[in-house]
Formats: sequence, structure tokens, C-alpha cells
Amino acid sequence: MQVIILPSAHEVALYAADRVVDVINTKPDPVLGLATGSTPIALYKELVARYQAKNVSFRRVTSFNLDEYIGITDAHQQSYRAFMEHYLFEQIDIFDENTHVPIADSQDVDVLKRSAQDYEQCIQLAGGIDLQILGIGLNGHIGFNEPTSSFASRTRIKTLSESTVVANKRFFEEGEYQPHLALTMGIGTILESKSVLLMATGKTKAEAVKAMIEGPLSAMCPASALQLHEAATIVLDEEAAGLLELKEYYQWCEQKRQQLHEGSLA
Ligand code: GLP
Repeated sequence: MQVIILPSAHEVALYAADRVVDVINTKPDPVLGLATGSTPIALYKELVARYQAKNVSFRRVTSFNLDEYIGITDAHQQSYRAFMEHYLFEQIDIFDENTHVPIADSQDVDVLKRSAQDYEQCIQLAGGIDLQILGIGLNGHIGFNEPTSSFASRTRIKTLSESTVVANKRFFEEGEYQPHLALTMGIGTILESKSVLLMATGKTKAEAVKAMIEGPLSAMCPASALQLHEAATIVLDEEAAGLLELKEYYQWCEQKRQQLHEGSLA
């Protein structure tokens, strides 16, 4: 795991934007894995700004989002499709047909199960995900893979944990129906991405971040599965890194990495 600790959430977003642009500029058919939640909003704002400044184009990009709520339609303001349209897709030159968010607006379980299988196939057909962006839930979830999700899980219907329902309540109106099921990429699906970049900011994430990086590999902290990935970067602000025991070591590693990049073994 590469652990990068930056002074602020703004710098976390700039770092993530650099990584996304790098994939777009180095791959002929870049495939991005995208995430929702409040953390990546700053990343999407930065990508829109770079697009407007004509520093990047999304014409060749295909995207796959991690997850979608079951029980609300795409038109609902809180659907992840609506989130992505609002914060990113509508503001850049990506082709609509190249943007994928799990299709979860059916009430028929068999249709949803087929939709999950089709999603897996669609990712394969696109050649796999080059860079998967991730956030982390307070309970260590990635996508909607809640604690005890199998590390081998694939895209499927998942029941949300109580803590996730409570954490996401703020996005729904008082008394409004709030989904408790989602269609999410599995941990196995995420681990097949060629590289992953998890962003975490703010002190509320510090415990989950510590469990992910320094805790045991455990289904109780789904994000700890990233310890198994050979190209996983965790980018944190100071607050999210606040409980890490080996914080100074990670900073030292980054200095060394830079020196090695410049060809120095000093
Ligand atoms: C949701 C999403 C996750 C996201 C998490 C944290 O439950 N399914 O992909 O990482 O929330 O969101 P936030 O960045 O708002 O803390």
C-alpha cells in the first residue's frame, strides 16, 4: 500500500485529479471506476475545472460507478446516477453511453440479479478498470460492501448496515423513503481493477483509515482488502491520518520514493 498524507482535503483532491488525468493521457481507451459520497466531490470539481481550461478531454473515457441505491429511480435527486450527472458527467465531454452506473431501478429481484451480472460482463468487455476511485465509509465499507462482505464478492444486491443508513440520512428529506438495499460492485470486482486510489478526509474517517491500513486483514473492515492489491494508493489529509501509528514512516517512504524516481539510492 502506498500511503500519502497531504496537508488538506484540497490537496487530496488535486492529487487524485492528477492521477485521473494521468490515466486519461497514457491509455488509449481509459476506463475509470468512479465513486460517490461527499469526499470525491472536490475531485470532480477539479476535473471539471481542468476540462474547462482545456487541459483534459473525456472523449475516450469509459466509466463504471461502484454502486446505486435500490428502491429509488435514476431521476431521484439522491440516486447515484443523478449525483454523477450533476457533479461530473453533465459538465464534461464524456459520451453518455460510456458512463455506467449499476441499473437498480427495478422492483423485480431477478431483473436486479441479471443487472448485476451484466455489469460484471460490461466491465470485462471494456477491458477492466484502469483506476478505481474509492471513498471509505465510517464502518470501513468500500462501495456498499458492508462489514463481513466476502473479499471474493462480485456485483450483487447488498443490504445496507444500520450505521450506513444513519450516515446517509442527511441526504434525504425528513420522513422521505430512504433505501436500505443497493447494487454494488463486490470487493472481488474492486480488487481486479488495475490500480485503486482511496481518498479519505476529515477526522471522522480516522478510525476506519487506521483499521484499513494498520489493522488485520478482516471482513469486518472491508477496505482492509486493499492490503491485497499490488497497486493501491491511499491518499489522506492530516485529520484522516490522525490515528496512524506509522505516520512518519509513510512520509519517509514518500521522500524515498521521490528520490528513487530521480534515480538516487542515497
Ligand atoms: C457511501 C458510498 C461509498 C462512500 C461512502 C462515504 O455509502 N456508497 O462509496 O465511500 O458513502 O461517503 P462520504 O465520502 O460522504 O463520507
